[in-house]
Amino acid sequence: MIALGSDHAGFELKHSIIKHLEEIKLEYKDFGCFSEESADYAEYAELVARAIVDGKFEQGILCCGTGVGISIAANKIRGIRAACCSDRFSAEATRLHNDANILCLGGRVVSPAKANELVDLFLDTKFSGEERHIRRIKQITELENKEYAKANEKNDETAESEKADDIKEEVTEEIKDEQ
Ligand code: RB5
Repeated sequence: MIALGSDHAGFELKHSIIKHLEEIKLEYKDFGCFSEESADYAEYAELVARAIVDGKFEQGILCCGTGVGISIAANKIRGIRAACCSDRFSAEATRLHNDANILCLGGRVVSPAKANELVDLFLDTKFSGEERHIRRIKQITELENKEYAKANEKNDETAESEKADDIKEEVTEEIKDEQ
Protein backbone atom coordinates (compact mmCIF):
# COMPACT_ATOMS: atom_id res chain seq x y z
CA MET A 1 0.00 0.00 0.00
CA ILE A 2 1.39 3.36 -1.02
CA ALA A 3 0.90 6.57 0.95
CA LEU A 4 0.29 9.64 -1.21
CA GLY A 5 0.32 13.33 -0.44
CA SER A 6 0.69 16.69 -2.11
CA ASP A 7 0.16 20.40 -1.78
CA HIS A 8 -1.92 22.38 -4.30
CA ALA A 9 1.01 22.62 -6.75
CA GLY A 10 1.40 18.85 -6.78
CA PHE A 11 -2.31 18.08 -6.69
CA GLU A 12 -2.79 17.53 -10.43
CA LEU A 13 0.32 15.37 -10.74
CA LYS A 14 -0.75 13.30 -7.72
CA HIS A 15 -4.08 12.68 -9.43
CA SER A 16 -2.46 11.49 -12.61
CA ILE A 17 -0.29 9.16 -10.46
CA ILE A 18 -3.44 7.91 -8.71
CA LYS A 19 -4.92 7.08 -12.11
CA HIS A 20 -1.73 5.21 -12.99
CA LEU A 21 -1.72 3.25 -9.71
CA GLU A 22 -5.34 2.27 -10.31
CA GLU A 23 -4.47 1.09 -13.83
CA ILE A 24 -1.61 -1.07 -12.55
CA LYS A 25 -3.80 -2.18 -9.62
CA LEU A 26 -1.68 -0.92 -6.76
CA GLU A 27 -3.41 0.07 -3.55
CA TYR A 28 -2.88 3.54 -2.15
CA LYS A 29 -4.18 5.99 0.41
CA ASP A 30 -4.34 9.70 -0.37
CA PHE A 31 -3.52 11.79 2.71
CA GLY A 32 -4.45 15.06 0.96
CA CYS A 33 -4.58 17.80 0.05
CA PHE A 34 -7.96 17.32 -1.55
CA SER A 35 -8.32 20.39 -3.76
CA GLU A 36 -6.23 22.88 -5.67
CA GLU A 37 -6.74 25.51 -2.99
CA SER A 38 -3.46 26.79 -1.59
CA ALA A 39 -2.05 24.26 0.89
CA ASP A 40 1.15 23.96 2.93
CA TYR A 41 3.33 21.05 1.82
CA ALA A 42 4.90 20.36 5.27
CA GLU A 43 1.49 19.26 6.59
CA TYR A 44 1.07 16.51 3.97
CA ALA A 45 4.74 15.55 4.12
CA GLU A 46 4.29 14.90 7.84
CA LEU A 47 1.11 12.82 7.42
CA VAL A 48 2.72 10.56 4.82
CA ALA A 49 6.09 10.38 6.58
CA ARG A 50 4.51 9.41 9.91
CA ALA A 51 2.34 6.76 8.26
CA ILE A 52 5.55 5.22 6.93
CA VAL A 53 7.65 5.38 10.10
CA ASP A 54 4.67 4.01 12.07
CA GLY A 55 4.85 0.98 9.78
CA LYS A 56 1.38 1.42 8.30
CA PHE A 57 2.77 1.97 4.78
CA GLU A 58 5.99 0.79 3.21
CA GLN A 59 6.50 3.55 0.67
CA GLY A 60 5.18 6.97 -0.18
CA ILE A 61 4.91 9.43 -3.04
CA LEU A 62 4.77 13.16 -2.37
CA CYS A 63 4.21 15.94 -4.90
CA CYS A 64 4.61 19.69 -4.65
CA GLY A 65 5.58 22.30 -7.23
CA THR A 66 9.24 21.33 -7.37
CA GLY A 67 9.21 18.19 -5.22
CA VAL A 68 11.90 19.90 -3.16
CA GLY A 69 9.99 21.58 -0.32
CA ILE A 70 7.92 18.49 0.41
CA SER A 71 11.06 16.30 0.41
CA ILE A 72 12.86 18.65 2.83
CA ALA A 73 9.84 18.49 5.16
CA ALA A 74 9.48 14.69 4.96
CA ASN A 75 13.18 14.22 5.68
CA LYS A 76 12.72 15.93 9.06
CA ILE A 77 10.92 12.81 10.31
CA ARG A 78 13.32 10.23 11.75
CA GLY A 79 13.57 7.16 9.54
CA ILE A 80 12.43 8.91 6.39
CA ARG A 81 14.63 8.92 3.33
CA ALA A 82 12.71 11.03 0.84
CA ALA A 83 14.26 11.50 -2.60
CA CYS A 84 13.29 14.27 -4.97
CA CYS A 85 13.81 12.90 -8.49
CA SER A 86 13.20 14.09 -12.01
CA ASP A 87 15.24 11.54 -13.95
CA ARG A 88 15.15 7.77 -14.33
CA PHE A 89 18.69 7.19 -13.11
CA SER A 90 18.07 8.91 -9.74
CA ALA A 91 14.68 7.25 -9.18
CA GLU A 92 16.30 3.83 -9.57
CA ALA A 93 19.57 4.64 -7.80
CA THR A 94 17.84 6.08 -4.76
CA ARG A 95 16.18 2.70 -4.17
CA LEU A 96 19.34 0.70 -4.91
CA HIS A 97 21.72 2.87 -2.88
CA ASN A 98 19.67 4.86 -0.34
CA ASP A 99 16.75 2.51 0.23
CA ALA A 100 14.61 5.65 -0.12
CA ASN A 101 11.11 5.21 1.27
CA ILE A 102 9.47 8.27 -0.31
CA LEU A 103 9.65 9.50 -3.88
CA CYS A 104 9.09 13.24 -4.27
CA LEU A 105 8.05 14.72 -7.58
CA GLY A 106 7.51 18.23 -8.84
CA GLY A 107 4.22 18.97 -10.57
CA ARG A 108 5.92 21.96 -12.20
CA VAL A 109 8.97 19.92 -13.17
CA VAL A 110 8.01 16.52 -14.57
CA SER A 111 5.29 15.60 -17.04
CA PRO A 112 2.62 13.07 -15.98
CA ALA A 113 4.14 10.48 -18.33
CA LYS A 114 7.64 10.99 -16.89
CA ALA A 115 6.22 10.86 -13.35
CA ASN A 116 4.61 7.48 -14.07
CA GLU A 117 7.94 6.15 -15.36
CA LEU A 118 9.71 7.36 -12.21
CA VAL A 119 6.99 5.91 -9.97
CA ASP A 120 7.28 2.51 -11.70
CA LEU A 121 11.07 2.50 -11.40
CA PHE A 122 10.96 3.56 -7.78
CA LEU A 123 8.35 0.97 -6.78
CA ASP A 124 9.88 -1.87 -8.79
CA THR A 125 13.47 -1.45 -7.61
CA LYS A 126 14.67 -3.20 -4.48
CA PHE A 127 17.43 -1.98 -2.19
CA SER A 128 20.72 -3.54 -3.32
CA GLY A 129 21.61 -4.61 0.23
CA GLU A 130 25.30 -4.04 -0.57
CA GLU A 131 27.56 -3.59 2.44
CA ARG A 132 28.73 -0.09 1.50
CA HIS A 133 25.18 1.14 1.08
CA ILE A 134 24.07 -0.42 4.37
CA ARG A 135 27.02 1.32 6.06
CA ARG A 136 26.09 4.71 4.57
CA ILE A 137 22.42 4.40 5.51
CA LYS A 138 23.52 3.50 9.06
CA GLN A 139 25.56 6.71 9.10
CA ILE A 140 22.43 8.69 8.18
CA THR A 141 20.52 6.98 11.00
CA GLU A 142 23.34 7.76 13.44
CA LEU A 143 23.21 11.40 12.37
CA GLU A 144 19.46 11.48 13.05
CA ASN A 145 19.95 9.86 16.45
CA LYS A 146 22.69 12.33 17.37
CA GLU A 147 20.43 15.27 16.47
CA TYR A 148 17.54 13.77 18.43
CA ALA A 149 19.71 13.21 21.51
CA LYS A 150 21.00 16.79 21.28
CA ALA A 151 17.46 18.18 21.03
CA ASN A 152 16.42 16.10 24.07
CA GLU A 153 19.40 17.37 26.05
CA LYS A 154 18.39 20.96 25.24
CA ASN A 155 14.79 20.26 26.29
CA ASP A 156 16.01 18.79 29.60
CA GLU A 157 18.20 21.86 30.19
CA THR A 158 15.26 24.19 29.48
CA ALA A 159 13.00 22.18 31.80
CA GLU A 160 15.64 22.29 34.55
CA SER A 161 16.14 26.04 34.26
CA GLU A 162 12.35 26.61 34.21
CA LYS A 163 12.07 24.52 37.37
CA ALA A 164 14.83 26.57 39.02
CA ASP A 165 13.04 29.80 38.02
CA ASP A 166 9.78 28.54 39.54
CA ILE A 167 11.49 27.65 42.82
CA LYS A 168 13.18 31.08 42.92
CA GLU A 169 9.81 32.76 42.35
CA GLU A 170 8.15 30.70 45.12
CA VAL A 171 10.94 31.47 47.60
CA THR A 172 10.77 35.20 46.75
CA GLU A 173 7.01 35.15 47.34
CA GLU A 174 7.47 33.36 50.68
CA ILE A 175 10.09 35.89 51.82
CA LYS A 176 7.77 38.72 50.80
CA ASP A 177 4.91 37.15 52.80
CA GLU A 178 7.11 36.78 55.89
CA GLN A 179 8.18 40.45 55.77
C1 RB5 B 1 4.05 26.30 -3.89
O1 RB5 B 1 3.90 27.47 -4.61
C2 RB5 B 1 5.48 25.79 -4.00
O2 RB5 B 1 6.34 26.67 -3.36
C3 RB5 B 1 5.60 24.41 -3.44
O3 RB5 B 1 4.72 23.58 -4.08
C4 RB5 B 1 6.96 23.75 -3.61
O4 RB5 B 1 7.39 23.83 -4.91
C5 RB5 B 1 8.00 24.10 -2.65
O5 RB5 B 1 9.09 23.54 -2.64
